Order: sequence, then structure tokens, then C-alpha cells
Amino acid sequence: MQIFTSIADFQLWRENISGTIGFVPTMGALHKGHLSLVEYSNKKCDTTVVSIYVNPTQFNPSEDLSSYPRDVDADIKLMKYYNVSAVFVPTDVMIYPNDFSTVIFEQQLSSKLEGISRPAHFKGVTTVVAKLFNIVQPTHAFFGEKDAQQLRVIQKMVLDLNFPVEIVPCPIIREENGLAMSSRNEYLSDDTRKRASIIFHSLEMVKKQLQAGETSSKQVVGFIKKTITSEPLAKIDYISVANSKTLVEIDGNLSGEILVSVAVFFNKTRLVDNFTIIL
Ligand code: PAF
Repeated sequence: MQIFTSIADFQLWRENISGTIGFVPTMGALHKGHLSLVEYSNKKCDTTVVSIYVNPTQFNPSEDLSSYPRDVDADIKLMKYYNVSAVFVPTDVMIYPNDFSTVIFEQQLSSKLEGISRPAHFKGVTTVVAKLFNIVQPTHAFFGEKDAQQLRVIQKMVLDLNFPVEIVPCPIIREENGLAMSSRNEYLSDDTRKRASIIFHSLEMVKKQLQAGETSSKQVVGFIKKTITSEPLAKIDYISVANSKTLVEIDGNLSGEILVSVAVFFNKTRLVDNFTIIL
């Protein structure tokens, strides 16, 4: 496995790679969710490239940039074990040199859901992902459905800007108790992890109600709210029932493809989860 810490070295290597290249962009602290993306890429593509970069521009000032979990050595070992062809680990100054002055900003989907609580977040994500796509030049890129809005924003960016990359959505990977895998789960004590599984259980229960014929968005939001707030540590940031494509909130009768998503704080840790359903 090749390890690159310089853009120029990576590009030299890339010039000699032919066939399909699967790309898994990550912020490190790799867990089973990332590993499943790597497995999807390994299966679908001739070569898999993983980037490890904690992107500062996607953190809001009040967020956890300095304490974000980092363990590059462990990540690299894991990637070797998973037969990744190359790991790209750029530094801040490489991605954002002093005179850096360009951003990529998707302007419709980005302002909804996560965008309300985290206004600069998706601008940071699209800028770094566009830059990484230009450096890595993948044929395929793998994104988890846990970050449902991120997936849609990236798909829109690729469409709008004609990036020659196929975006491959990959299913949410969960801990045994149902909690969606996330690097941020590392902040949670064992007890809080157990409590946080209420997020998944509330979504599962509401999914069953929808499958059984519930069509009121008010009922759905009310049920999730009641269930999650039964856990005293949970503080709801948002509960959204939206059109899965446009992310426009649905207030009334539900039909078509719906994205039900939530963001919930457990102490300072913000956890997200979602499901989509066709009604
Ligand atoms: O999903 C993530 O880990 C990040 O948002 C990404 C796509 C690697 C961009 O920094």
C-alpha cells in the first residue's frame, strides 16, 4: 500500500493507474462504517484510494475540531489490512494554502436540515470534496447514507459541475444496539451509547407505523419527539420529515419518497440518523 502526504507525489502515482478507481474520502478515526465503504469500493473498483483529512472548514466555530478523534497510524494499519492501494493524508497547508480563496457552495439542499444548525458546514464539505476529486480523479466515490444530506449535496455538486465521478451510496452500518456508526460515538461512555440507541429505536418504530399506513407528518414528528425525549440525556436539535430528493419539509400528508432524519445531542455529542421510505 502506498502512503502519500504530498499532492504532487500522489498525482505522479495516479498517472500510472488505469481502470476504475474507487475513492473513500474520510476524516480518519476509521470505524466499521468506513470499512464497509472500503469493502464496497474494493468489490466494485480495480483500485481503492482512501483519504484521511480532518477538514477544518466544515466545522462551525462552536464545534469539536480540536478534539475530533485522530489516530492516523491506526487508520493506516487498518487500510493496509483492507488491501487499499493508496492512502492520501494531506496537511492543512496543502489543502488550504495561505492564499486559498475559492469555495464550492451548493445553494439549495445545503441550507436545509443540517444547514440550519451548521450554516457553513456544507460549503466546507463541497469545497474539500471537489478538491479531493480533482486530486484523486476517481471513477467512483463511496459515501454513507448515514449522512443523508451530505450524500445528496455531493450528488448535486457532481451533477451541476459535471464531475466525471459515479457517487455510490452505501447503507448505514450500526452498532449492535442499533446506534449508527460514527467517529463521534467515541465521545460517548458505554452508558450513553446504550441510551443513544433510542434514536434508532424511535426511527424503527416510526418506520413500522408508516409501513402500516400512517401518513401524517405531524404524527411522525410527534412520535419521534416523545420517544427520544423519554431519554433524559437526549436534547433534540431537529426532527425532519422531508421530500427525499428536494429536502423540502412535508407538513401534512406523506407520499412519494420520504427522508425521515434526526439530529440529537447527547451531552455535547451531536448524533444523526435517518431512513428513507417510499409511500
Ligand atoms: O463524511 C465525512 O467524513 C466528511 O464530510 C468528508 C466527506 C470526508 C469531507 O471532509
